[in-house]
Amino acid sequence: MATPSASARLPNIDAQREQVLAHPLARGIDSADIVEFLAQLPRGRFPSAAYAERARVPLIQPRGGVPLFEEQLALTRALSEAGADFIPLTIDSCTRHNEYDTAAQLLKRSEEEGKSYLNGYPLVCHGHELTRELYVGLDKPVSLRHGTPDARLLAEVAIASGIVEIEGGGLCYCLPYSEGFPVDRCLLYWQYVDRVCALYSTPGRPVHRESFGPLSATLVPPAIVVAIEIIEALLAAEQGVLSFAVSFGQTGSLIQDVATARVLRRLAREYLDAYGFADVELHMGYHQWMGQFPMQRDRAAALIAGSALLAGMVGADKIIVKTVDEALGVPRREVNCEAVDMVRYVLQTFGTPESVDSRAIALEASLIESETRSIMQAVFALSGDMFWESVHRAFQLGYIDVPFSPHADNANKLTSMRDANRSIRIAEAGHVPISPDDASTERALLQSRPDRLEKTYRRMLSDIALMA
Ligand code: 5AD
Repeated sequence: MATPSASARLPNIDAQREQVLAHPLARGIDSADIVEFLAQLPRGRFPSAAYAERARVPLIQPRGGVPLFEEQLALTRALSEAGADFIPLTIDSCTRHNEYDTAAQLLKRSEEEGKSYLNGYPLVCHGHELTRELYVGLDKPVSLRHGTPDARLLAEVAIASGIVEIEGGGLCYCLPYSEGFPVDRCLLYWQYVDRVCALYSTPGRPVHRESFGPLSATLVPPAIVVAIEIIEALLAAEQGVLSFAVSFGQTGSLIQDVATARVLRRLAREYLDAYGFADVELHMGYHQWMGQFPMQRDRAAALIAGSALLAGMVGADKIIVKTVDEALGVPRREVNCEAVDMVRYVLQTFGTPESVDSRAIALEASLIESETRSIMQAVFALSGDMFWESVHRAFQLGYIDVPFSPHADNANKLTSMRDANRSIRIAEAGHVPISPDDASTERALLQSRPDRLEKTYRRMLSDIALMA
């Protein structure tokens, strides 16, 4: 039995850190200098300050990364002027896969030809000294958005650059992003990232971590999302992280969105408190629709506006915004700014209700809660000296099973479909340890589908896209 523990003897990462920082691209990274640099940043650069000052409406977070420094600077300024509350730094795929040499070559080519050969900002190649220049005079947090299983060097360079929100986690940045990266190694590498975040945290200025709840963004049942989010919050807290955001992606069902938000927020808090982490501040992000996007820009805009309204209804602390370029590639700067402005317009026009409730929402929430508790109990009951080992075991056994994960070791025994409300239902639980009662409730709810006699794969295919 391995539960998270506030007093666990944490492994010493000094030797590993020395090795990571011995990389030639880590040149000039000096902890004492970084501590001093972080101490003189405006408080507004820390997510906890931004969250503390937020009014009723959710904070707005776009995404954005381009290879050239000057272009990234222009993007940063434009997004901030458009009303973004968090400034993004999205990292290119080569850097995400630790292919720094390729990133450097493609950066050089981009510079020479004035054209983008990378799909994001190659932070490790640019280095922290130059990257600090992106944010001179900025009074908002910068968020590192990537998808990196081994983000040790990337996170070191990010924090050295004054980027104190680090997205990711050992499960959420492995299962949706990698086919072959070993999950146990990923969990350990993220333990390193969490610890480095904790080491640089000071009172009132915690380096913030955020988990990526959308996962594969394809028919993932909320209980799987909520369990993974709680697990990652606990893993981070164990390493000393003091500010954390759980998140989830728009499900495609209004009822399920409201229910998921309610359970996610409540249970994440409850589990943190129960295992000795009452001092960890907790926030919740809502990702606009992460599945397939329409090619038609007017439809994409409608989707973005609609889900901005939903972000307010679910009571999110932050909304992570899409753009009308989503189906086409990396968004153009103006289009990215327009999306921020549109979301802000919708949020301010409609405001946010105190709370939204109905009988269907209450039933959905109690089902998600019951399933999540079963999964968490089963994970805790597995053997291991430390909590992460039980988490790894749970993944190996298929207790944690993410539909449509590209990862070779994902169990793929759980199958899911939408019911008549468009809520995501568990058709077959596989090895995910939900109770027989909850499993039969899920199946019974699927009977509401008008096409229930259609072939399974046809029903699933029609559910994936969501759109008519
Ligand atoms: N700039 C802006 N958005 C990006 N995304 C990926 N790379 C970039 C980038 N360089 C977005 C995708 C998708 C999400 C996962 O991240 O379009 O919406």
